Amino acid sequence: MAELRVNNLYLDYGTGATANAILKGVSMELQRGEVVALLGPSGSGKTTLLRAVAGLESPKSGTITIGERSVFDGERKFEMPAEQRSLGLVFQSYALWPHKTVADNVGYGLKLRKVPGDEIAKRVKEVLGQLGLGHLGERFPHQLSGGQQQRVAIARALVYNPPVILLDEPLSNLDAKLRESLRFELKRLQRELGITSIYVTHDQVEALSLSSQIAVMREGEVVQLGKPRDIYTNPKSRFVAEFIGTSNFLNGRVSATDGDRVTVDTTEGRLVVRSSAGVPVGSEAIVSARPEVVEISTSSADGAVPNEWSGEIVTRMFLGDAVDHVVKVGGFEVRNRSNPNQSIEPGTRVYLRMNPELLTLVPVG
Ligand SMILES: Nc1ncnc2c1ncn2[C@@H]1O[C@H](COP(=O)(O)OP(=O)(O)OP(=O)(O)O)[C@@H](O)[C@H]1O
Ligand SMILES: [Mg+2]
Repeated sequence: MAELRVNNLYLDYGTGATANAILKGVSMELQRGEVVALLGPSGSGKTTLLRAVAGLESPKSGTITIGERSVFDGERKFEMPAEQRSLGLVFQSYALWPHKTVADNVGYGLKLRKVPGDEIAKRVKEVLGQLGLGHLGERFPHQLSGGQQQRVAIARALVYNPPVILLDEPLSNLDAKLRESLRFELKRLQRELGITSIYVTHDQVEALSLSSQIAVMREGEVVQLGKPRDIYTNPKSRFVAEFIGTSNFLNGRVSATDGDRVTVDTTEGRLVVRSSAGVPVGSEAIVSARPEVVEISTSSADGAVPNEWSGEIVTRMFLGDAVDHVVKVGGFEVRNRSNPNQSIEPGTRVYLRMNPELLTLVPVG
């Protein structure tokens, strides 16, 4: 059964002629234990959607259901107050109470709900333990590192055993290293506790690694919802392809199809792509090639492999665990990502190879 269901949600800010549509018919469904990563440019409505689910904003129409409880129904004009929805919220600015200890910060919400003291203590201890904060209960926030503070904020959201937690860029204030370790911890917690959550992030690696589904938002709409692998390998639009990672977009026109083999003629040569998109011969299409799919070599395979192009290295960037080369092929600049031990001088003549199985045909539009 779905733990969270959002159906056709509309939300405006302002009224009358100045009303501004922010959510334009958003729908999504999360099964228990599922994590949906919300990705999208700034201003696309991610925070607004979370706030609407939490009961902090009033949508205009649509429905929101948590488990079997309806918490918002535009038609029936029913709106459950935020505190009764009892969702866990973790926002980017996690504002802990500076004069309360870690344990009191975490237990405060339970205290407000008049949960008995010994029960609060037990629950707080349990949650702090789960987040690796067991030894820090008596400290004050200013005595903690940023990562520890962030974990306290997460503990505070988990302490109620909420059916759903909503996280809005919870790691974005942290440095790269800390983010990575907390990301692993979140993943572990998610697995151990089977938490259902919506997770807003700007970070595609975070989205790909933490979520069971990714929803890509654009101007108040979910433009694609799917498994991370599907979104990554099979974006339905250029917008999604561009948003979800760096890619090369090689535009051309479909010149032949043979089963799921599609041939695209570009200004710099022909590409064969495996695709079931059913793009008709004669139509425009874009072939998306992720940098890691583009192989480079200083020698030609002499027709033994499909999709071999030749070009010249224009730039090279060392990225620590990889090297990127940009190769100029006529009017295209194609980015490759290689193992760091393959590093080729700019100015070198090279051959590019792109495996048809790993390329994606993106419908134009
Ligand atoms: N209280 C408000 N009144 C009017 N407009 C608002 C209000 N809050 C947000 N907006 C507008 O709603 C739109 C969506 O904002 P939202 O905060 O949901 O974006 P977001 O996707 O979370 O962006 P970011 O990635 O920058 O956090 C923006 O255009 C924003 O300016
Ligand atoms: Mg936001």
